[in-house]
Amino acid sequence: MGSHHLPMSTLLFLLLLLLAHRGAPDLAADRAALLSLRAAVGRSALNWNSTTDSSPCSFSGVTCEGGRVTALHLPGTGLLGAIPAGLLGNLTALRTLSLRFNALAGPLPADVSSLSELRNLYLQSNRFSGEIPESIFSLQNLVRLNLADNNFTGRISPGINKLTRLGTLYLEKNSLSGEMPAIDLPNLVQFNVSFNRLNGSVPEKLRSMPRDSFLGTGLCGGPGPLGACLGEVSPAAAGVAKRHKLSGGAVAGIAIGAAVGFLVLLALVLLLCRRRGGGGKTKPAGVASEAERLPEAEMALTDKRVVDAAPAVPPANGVGEKRLVFFGSGPRVYDLEDLLRASAEVLGKGTFGTTYKAVLESGNVVAVKRLKEANIPEVEFREKIAAIGAMEHKNLVGLRAYYYSKDERLLVYEYMSMGSLSSLLHGNRGAGRTPLNWDTRSSIALDAARGIEYIHSTSPTASHGNIKSSNILLDRSYEARVSDHGLATLANPTPIPNRVAGYRAPEITDVRKVSQKADVYSFGVLLLELLTGKAPAQALLNEEGVDLPRWVQSVVKEEWTSEVFDLELLRYQNVEEEMVQLLQLAIDCAAQYPDRRPTMSEVVGRIEEIQQSSMLASADEKEDQADSV
Ligand SMILES: *[C@@H]1O[C@H](CO)[C@@H](O)[C@H](O)[C@H]1NC(C)=O
Ligand SMILES: *[C@@H]1O[C@H](CO)[C@@H](O)[C@H](O)[C@H]1NC(C)=O
Ligand SMILES: *[C@@H]1O[C@H](CO)[C@@H](O)[C@H](O)[C@H]1NC(C)=O
Ligand SMILES: *[C@@H]1O[C@H](CO)[C@@H](O)[C@H](O)[C@H]1NC(C)=O
Ligand SMILES: *[C@@H]1O[C@H](CO)[C@@H](O)[C@H](O)[C@H]1NC(C)=O
Repeated sequence: MGSHHLPMSTLLFLLLLLLAHRGAPDLAADRAALLSLRAAVGRSALNWNSTTDSSPCSFSGVTCEGGRVTALHLPGTGLLGAIPAGLLGNLTALRTLSLRFNALAGPLPADVSSLSELRNLYLQSNRFSGEIPESIFSLQNLVRLNLADNNFTGRISPGINKLTRLGTLYLEKNSLSGEMPAIDLPNLVQFNVSFNRLNGSVPEKLRSMPRDSFLGTGLCGGPGPLGACLGEVSPAAAGVAKRHKLSGGAVAGIAIGAAVGFLVLLALVLLLCRRRGGGGKTKPAGVASEAERLPEAEMALTDKRVVDAAPAVPPANGVGEKRLVFFGSGPRVYDLEDLLRASAEVLGKGTFGTTYKAVLESGNVVAVKRLKEANIPEVEFREKIAAIGAMEHKNLVGLRAYYYSKDERLLVYEYMSMGSLSSLLHGNRGAGRTPLNWDTRSSIALDAARGIEYIHSTSPTASHGNIKSSNILLDRSYEARVSDHGLATLANPTPIPNRVAGYRAPEITDVRKVSQKADVYSFGVLLLELLTGKAPAQALLNEEGVDLPRWVQSVVKEEWTSEVFDLELLRYQNVEEEMVQLLQLAIDCAAQYPDRRPTMSEVVGRIEEIQQSSMLASADEKEDQADSV
C-alpha cells in the first residue's frame, strides 16, 4: 500500500478520523440505545420524550453524570419481550442497570459485557431464559448481581470467581442445574441459590452462609439440616453470622423486627391521636411542622415580656435570684439588661421552646432559648441546669448562662453560625443549593457521636433524650455539636410529639425517661438521614407510610444499598464502601430491641474505624495512580 510515504501527522489524522467516524461513545449514542430499548421492549411502557433535541437525561428512570447515562432504573415498568443484542452494550458508562420486576424474556444479551463500568445489575423477577452468558463474568467492577426469579438454565460457571468485587449474588428461583463450582469470592456477603436444580456439595467457602441460601436444592454438606454429603462430616459451625456484614438472614431479621416495631408505633400514634381528638388542645401534626419552618421574625427580646426587676441582694443558692447565672470561666461580658435590649431573630421553635439569635450591643452573638412552661420547682430546676452547665465537651453546644423567674426561663448558649444539620440537609433543595459533601457528612456523624458518647459517660443513666438533625449544630468550620442536652429532664411529662416520632425508639413512651439505648436508636436514624438525605418525619408520611429505618431496610433487602443513598452522594465514587459500612452501623443502631444496639462508645469506635480504613484505601488508590503514570 505504500503507507510509509505518508507523514506521521497524516496517519494520526486518519486514525482520529476513523475513530470519530466510528462514533466515540457519547450521550447521543446513549440516547439512541435507550430509544431502541424502548422500541424493542417498552413501547407501551415508557413515555420518554423522543423529540430530536430532547436529552435522554430527562427521561424518567435515567440518571446522567458527566454527560453520559450512568444509571437506568426501570423497575416494574411493564417492559415486555426480548432485548435484542447490540443495544444494552452501547450504554458504556452505565454503573447501575435495574430492570427488575418486568416481563423481559429470552436470553440475556451477551453484550452486557461491554458495560465495563457496571457495578449493579438487577434483573430479578423477569422471564429471562437460557444460560447466564459467560461474558458477564468479565464485568470486573460488578458488586451486586441479582438474577433471581427468572428462568435461567444450565450450570453456574466457575467464571463467576472472576467477579472479585462481588458482594451480592442472588440466583434463587431459576432452573440452574448440576454441581456448583468452587465459588470463592472474598467480598461476598449476600448469597442465595435457593430453588434451583442444583446437586452435589456446597462449596467449602459458602458453608458459613445461612441455610436459607440453599433452600429447595439437592445440595448437601451445607449448613444445618442440609445434611452431610456421603463420606463427609457435617460442619458444626454453620450459620455463623459475620460481624460488620449484612447477611441476608440478618437483613430479614432486622426487617421483621422493624415491622413489629412499626406496628407498635402505629398503634401508639393512633391511640394518642384519639386521646387528643377529645381534648382539642393540641394542634395537628401539620401545624407543628409548619412551626419548625423557622419564621424570620425580627424583634427585641424585651418585646417578649421578659422584664424583671433585679433584687437588691442576691440570695444564696441562686434561689430567687433575678440575674443571669453564668457557667464556666469564660468572660461575662453581658448581663440580663444587655440581653433584653439585644435584637433578636427567631432561629427555630423546638420541642422545649423557641430559640432566638441575639445580637448584643457589644457585637457579641448568642443563642437564647425561652423554655416552655413546665411545673418543676425552682430548686430542682436550678440543680438540673447547674448539672447541664457543668458539661463541657468540644462536641456539645455550651450552655453559657441562664435566667430563671416565675414567668420566664432563658438559656443562653454559644451561637453556632452554620445552623442545624437539618437545615443543611433539607433546606433549599433544588436550584442554588450547595450539596453537603460526603467528607462533611462523615465527620458530622463522628462529631455528633462523640458528643453523645460524652453525655453518656457522665453517668450510667445520663441520656440526651432528643437526638435529631435539628439538634446537631455546626460552627463556621462545619464542626458539629450536639445541642439541647439535658432539656428532656426539664420537660413536663408529655406524650410523644408526632413530629419527632421518626427518631423515637419504639420502646419509649415518656420523653423524660429516655435510656442511652434510645439515644443510640435516634442516632441510628440520624445516620440514615445523613446517608439518604431523607427527613425521618417526611419518610413517615410517604405513600407507604413507613418510617426511615424500615424504608431503608426494605430497600436494602431488595437491592442492596445503591438506591438508598442521597443522590447528592452518588458523585463520590470512591466512598461507596464507607457509605455501606456506615449504613450497616446505622441499621445496627436502629435495631428494634435495645439490647441489640451498640453502646455509644462502640459507635464512635466503629465510625473511627470506617474513616480510617477508607483513608487507607484512598491512600492505596493514590499509590496505584502514581504507579500507573
Ligand atoms: C450501538 O453502537 C453501534 C456502533 O457504534 C451502532 O452501529 C449501533 O447502531 C448502536 N446500536 C444502537 C441500538 O444504538
Ligand atoms: C420534549 O422535549 C422538547 C425539547 O426539549 C420540548 O420542547 C418539548 O416540550 C418536550 N415535549 C414534552 C411532551 O414534554
Ligand atoms: C422456562 O423455560 C422452560 C423451557 O426452557 C419453559 O418450558 C418454561 O415454560 C419456562 N418458564 C417460565 C416461567 O417462563
Ligand atoms: C446431579 O444430577 C445430574 C443429573 O441431573 C447427575 O448426572 C449427576 O450425577 C448429579 N450429581 C451428583 C453429585 O449427584
Ligand atoms: C433465598 O431465597 C428464598 C426464596 O426467595 C428465600 O425463601 C430465602 O429466605 C432466601 N435466603 C436468603 C438468605 O436470602
